[in-house]
Amino acid sequence: MLTILHASDLQCGRPFLPHAADAFVRFANQLQADVIVVAGDLTQRAKVAEFHTAKTLLERLPAVPVIVTPGNHDVPLFRLWERALAPHRNWRALISPDLDSSVRRPGATFVALNSSAPRTAIVNGRVRSRQVEFARRAFESAPEDDARVLVIHHHFVPAPDPTAGRPLPGARRLAEAFESMGVDLVLGGHVHETHVNTSRALLPGRDGPGVPLIACGTTTSRRGRGSEAGINSLNVIRVAPHEVEVLPHRLAPGARDFEPAAAIVIPRHRTSGARGAAVG
Ligand SMILES: [Fe+2]
Repeated sequence: MLTILHASDLQCGRPFLPHAADAFVRFANQLQADVIVVAGDLTQRAKVAEFHTAKTLLERLPAVPVIVTPGNHDVPLFRLWERALAPHRNWRALISPDLDSSVRRPGATFVALNSSAPRTAIVNGRVRSRQVEFARRAFESAPEDDARVLVIHHHFVPAPDPTAGRPLPGARRLAEAFESMGVDLVLGGHVHETHVNTSRALLPGRDGPGVPLIACGTTTSRRGRGSEAGINSLNVIRVAPHEVEVLPHRLAPGARDFEPAAAIVIPRHRTSGARGAAVG
């Protein structure tokens, strides 16, 4: 059993809520997950001071692997020369030298792909073919029965809130690739509202339940949307041999701690070609 603490959209900067960050750190230290995922938008405007706040927050988390990926807010929107010439300079200096990365721990391989596209699609992002191949190689070099987890900031299917923007271009093609490489789940954020779907929303009629596509709301900012306006959220995800359990948690206005909501259980997707037989 693999336990993942899934957070996103810290938005350090003007929308950042220190009390929500304290609740996140308390929660993380109590849970002791195997891995923590922070699925992008660590900052609001990609400023040095904002990345320092994000870095300080990450350093307060327990000593387990923390997987991060840039979001569209982690590149400068208004500083046009910086966006054109060195959009990830502050990310690389203060968070990670890598934009795409892979991390292995016993029983699981994580691949984080940078979907921010500062020069072409500042809001709704891109994932490029070379990045899909990066993920494919990482998963192919991992043990056959590893859980395979992808982290991508942007969303793949329309969010419940119509103001959340269009999904990632090429989402259907990407879902086909992820199914073919035996991905077990995709973790993201961006829409500021918890949203759980599967790749069957993009590829109807195929065999199997599809790959879970799990968007986390905003964990530490005031930018919650739709049903999570004014609410902060995170997910506890348990990957078992035959199912993935998503347990959303919410921090209501005025509350001290994140509290669990109803669990969502999705049968584990297995493709016959890429993964072979059952896992675990
Ligand atoms: Fe975003």
